[in-house]
Amino acid sequence: MKIDGTPALVTGGGSGLGEATARYLAERGADVTILDFDADRAAQVASEIGGFSVQADVGDAGEVAAAVTAAGARYGAPARIVVNCAGIGLAARIINRAGDVSTELFERVIRVNLIGTYNVMSYASQALMTAPLLGEERGVIINTASAAYQDGQVGQSAYSASKGGIAAMCLPAARELARSGIRVMAIAPGLFNTPMMESLPEEVTAKIVANIPFPARLGDPDEYALMAAQIVENPYLNGETIRLDGATRLPPR
Ligand SMILES: NC(=O)c1ccc[n+]([C@@H]2O[C@H](COP(=O)([O-])OP(=O)(O)OC[C@H]3O[C@@H](n4cnc5c(N)ncnc54)[C@H](O)[C@@H]3O)[C@@H](O)[C@H]2O)c1
Repeated sequence: MKIDGTPALVTGGGSGLGEATARYLAERGADVTILDFDADRAAQVASEIGGFSVQADVGDAGEVAAAVTAAGARYGAPARIVVNCAGIGLAARIINRAGDVSTELFERVIRVNLIGTYNVMSYASQALMTAPLLGEERGVIINTASAAYQDGQVGQSAYSASKGGIAAMCLPAARELARSGIRVMAIAPGLFNTPMMESLPEEVTAKIVANIPFPARLGDPDEYALMAAQIVENPYLNGETIRLDGATRLPPR
């Protein structure tokens, strides 16, 4: 699918991987809508790229439905490129050192990362299904998993479960939406230099980087944006989760 002149919806576009993707798609001529919980950041990025922003919590189906409608109304057509980057990276042991369980955190992470992705995929594809074909396809949905979907660390049970869900639903979603000409892909990033990562103490980041074979550095958000654009442009990519990680494998802790 071509990027130039195509409406795109980027969730989590106010920061990090989503922001880099929104900027790159806009640079390449897409009509970008940023959907983010953080209204100020979303509006700021949107104004810088000549795009549109809408505040919504991806975990709330009603808010997502309204945001998808608003994006469609803004550009007079539904988004054909959908990139789901909204997410949270909270960590907790199943049972902490004091012996407490962490089921509330588990539910919150699943709600935002997994159900949030599902909500956006649902309403975005519903809006797109009746749009005319653009060449042989209608659109493409790119979801964001994580390397932790395969090698989750201690404390990442909730996060890994949410990302494993995203990877697992990629193929059935691609199979189902095939009849509508909509592809579904997922990117599983390793460790990228975003505000989410910047919150980690320096020694933790150093330990992480020591474990990345090549290039031995954190990923650049622009490299995620490039992967997303390549998925958009290559019509034969479908139903697959691609690790983007410099060959890193996360150690147990
Ligand atoms: N940075 C990494 O190393 C890394 C690695 C693997 C996967 N990921 C995944 O990539 C995605 C983006 O991560 P990032 O590093 O850019 O994070 P980030 O914190 O920089 O950006 C996340 C954005 O999502 C928004 N957001 C959070 N909860 C939301 C909600 N409920 N509704 C709407 N918007 C919401 C935030 O406001 C923020 O703008 C996440 O899903 C994350 O799990 C990141």
